[in-house]
Amino acid sequence: IHVAVLMGGWSNERPVSLMSGNGVADALEKVGYQVSRVDMDRNIAQVLTALRPDVVFNALHGVPGEDGTVQGMLDLMGIPYTHSGMVTSVIAIDKELTKQCLVPAGIPMPKGTMVDSESLYIRDPLPRPYVLKPVNEGSSVGVAIVTEDSNYGNPIARDAKGPWQEFDRLLAEPFIKGRELTVAVLGDKALCVTELKPKSGFYDFDAKYTDGLTEHICPAEIPDDIAQYMLDTALRAHQLLGCKGTSRTDFRWDDSVGMDGVFVLETNTQPGMTPLSLVPEQARHVGISYEQLVDIIVKEALA
Ligand code: DAL
Ligand code: MG
Repeated sequence: IHVAVLMGGWSNERPVSLMSGNGVADALEKVGYQVSRVDMDRNIAQVLTALRPDVVFNALHGVPGEDGTVQGMLDLMGIPYTHSGMVTSVIAIDKELTKQCLVPAGIPMPKGTMVDSESLYIRDPLPRPYVLKPVNEGSSVGVAIVTEDSNYGNPIARDAKGPWQEFDRLLAEPFIKGRELTVAVLGDKALCVTELKPKSGFYDFDAKYTDGLTEHICPAEIPDDIAQYMLDTALRAHQLLGCKGTSRTDFRWDDSVGMDGVFVLETNTQPGMTPLSLVPEQARHVGISYEQLVDIIVKEALA
């Protein structure tokens, strides 16, 4: 079976995707697949037409790649691919659309508001502390936590150099104090709850991809009822959004208020597959090796 592993591209998460893609490609080769490593450029349709793979392993992160564009193209070309389909991807890449889909179904998510950067400089969109994030990025790219004593000014100064600046669609959400947790879903099973404890600051890009900057506690040391609620909620989010293969739902938990303090931040349809990534770690916890994981994902795409 010939698998084209699609990676790289030109999103802000290109370096992460290259790590995911090469890790996946190495593992697929070990399993015995014929593998082509494809760094996506704008000729991707021609490249795939020439390669004629049996299946595409989508290891892209961010926009484009996680956002439905590539999925739609592959649908038109009639090439099966891993992970979620076009419509799911369009919704899940957009944190506001995700809320519109999940909140009415009872999934707890922070009450956010879309902001335009002009109004940001006139008044705070929410009481501080709040989180300001691009609505459709990954890996915490562009995310800022705006606190009382934030050096961005109060209100945010027009000339403040914040990480959000190059993005035009921004979402503000109340900052949920407490703990950072995540749950991977594979097929119809939520795998485990992992707690992420960054050594300093928040679980930002560096904390995510620099070895030693974040402690991963898998399974998280939290009460059983909270863990079960998170597992159930991640699986429901996966199903409500129509995710395929694997997804990872990220949580904050304000542990001072118990169950009412659990909030979903988002569901990732193209979760990272790097050496520090969480889906492979949780798979390992339930006895699935990295090689078995990529094999399961490919077989599901071909089923
Ligand atoms: N956006 C990164 C790749 C993740 O969700 O793991
Ligand atoms: Mg994400």
